[in-house]
Amino acid sequence: PVLVVDFGAQYAQLIARRVREAGVYSEVIAHTASVREIAAKDPSGIILSGGPASVYAEGAPALDPALFDLGVPVLGICYGFQAMARALGGTVEHTGGREYGRTAVEVSGGALHQGLPEQQPVWMSHGDAVTEAPAGFTVTASSEGAPVAAFECLDRRLAGVQYHPEVRHSPHGQEVLTRFLRDVAGLERTWTTANIVEQLIEQVRAQVGDGRALCGLSGGVDSAVAAALVQRAIGEKLTCVFVDHGLLREGERGQVENDFVAATGARLVTIDAAATFLGELAGVSDPEAKRKIIGREFIRSFEGAVTEVLGDAASTGATVDFLVQGTLYPDVVESGGGSGTANIKSHHNVGGLPEDLQFTLVEPLRLLFKDEVRAVGRELGLPEEIVGRQPFPGPGLAIRIVGEVTAERLALLRRADAIAREELTIAGLDQQIWQCPVVLLADVRSVGVQGDGRTYGHPIVLRPVSSEDAMTADWSRLPYEVLETISTRITNEVPDVNRVVLDVTSKPPGTIEWE
Ligand code: XMP
Repeated sequence: PVLVVDFGAQYAQLIARRVREAGVYSEVIAHTASVREIAAKDPSGIILSGGPASVYAEGAPALDPALFDLGVPVLGICYGFQAMARALGGTVEHTGGREYGRTAVEVSGGALHQGLPEQQPVWMSHGDAVTEAPAGFTVTASSEGAPVAAFECLDRRLAGVQYHPEVRHSPHGQEVLTRFLRDVAGLERTWTTANIVEQLIEQVRAQVGDGRALCGLSGGVDSAVAAALVQRAIGEKLTCVFVDHGLLREGERGQVENDFVAATGARLVTIDAAATFLGELAGVSDPEAKRKIIGREFIRSFEGAVTEVLGDAASTGATVDFLVQGTLYPDVVESGGGSGTANIKSHHNVGGLPEDLQFTLVEPLRLLFKDEVRAVGRELGLPEEIVGRQPFPGPGLAIRIVGEVTAERLALLRRADAIAREELTIAGLDQQIWQCPVVLLADVRSVGVQGDGRTYGHPIVLRPVSSEDAMTADWSRLPYEVLETISTRITNEVPDVNRVVLDVTSKPPGTIEWE
């Protein structure tokens, strides 16, 4: 793999994703890994990521110069670029000229920039700057605040850039990464969907062996793809369990029970657990508490499903040992699985697991990004209605009711959500938006006038966002006419709702879901 050494910035995952887009498998590794540990992974290339700190700051992540003696091609980015410069004998200084955001650089040839426009915008985010490249390196770019904005030494297959080639705000960034991989490191495009599927199936077989597995279907893309993959790997030994926790949207259960089964032929058991979930959620309005309860009840439902799943085999002492989950890379990272990353939310499929879990987890998609998961799903023959589906969180509508979750509130939100989804589909906007949570502010009331009377109802929030991987997002600029239709319909058709508001916050600072 190409190893992305994570110096603590959110950018590390993004770099790995871009490398994979260029057809080369990539993994993130913590900067605390020793050179020996890195070498043990037999990397075909190393990319040093950006990081929040200055190379001179106390506690700044260190870079062992021995890394450059491995003979492995290395690309340094931002902090990684500066750390590299310093480790190889160049100079990094506090120039005082901070550059943040879109910046113009002037590039001059070299393997990374040959043939690209001499003047180009890039995304910068740095305080210190490299003022002198290490001996033997050629400087190939500069900006106002960074006299040395890129350098390379092709004999040693080492290169670096001060800017962030992995973000879309650097329009030629992907080309620069591709050039590093292809022209500097000499790597071939082998990370293809067909290869991914083949490898994942092998891994699942190796992990599960002759064991039996359960897979929880949530109705979402991830669990559907994970299930289809495991089904391909172990066939009959897999049973899918769909827990209807009563927090689903309109039509969701039917979609799982019909479309998914039709596409995969997998065995499916549905558990009706709405009453239990609602009972456990009664009186709870704290988001993390809700998430933990749902995570716990979800697993309990599974445990309860075991007997049913085993059927006659139970009498022969058979057990179910494995639980398949559609956990993705961003879930892992946001639940604190990445080094030095804060726990933002407990995703119900990662952070909320009970400690006395009876199953070993099988998470075949754990290292994949959403777009890769969709590609895998298509490769496995799942229909577009399933793979093209917008994300929906495991805890369902519970985390879209700000306040306590009750059956009445769920019914109300379900109606409003169905209207919004219907109108977005009619307007042909499904492809343009990543997802559109519809949120009920159950603890907020405002005065309205409907018909001849005063009302005192709840607001519904529309949260349409565009995103590439849910790690960052922007609010979608929906046409006013569509917003108007949705607003009119919701206030007319949903009792107790007298106001519709639009969330115009990007992520960060807001998360996509409200809880
Ligand atoms: P946030 O709200 O963290 O959401 O910006 C990022 C993406 O993750 C989805 N999401 C979840 N998905 N279990 C899931 O399976 C969860 O607990 C969960 N929480 C948020 C959210 O819909 C968005 O796509």
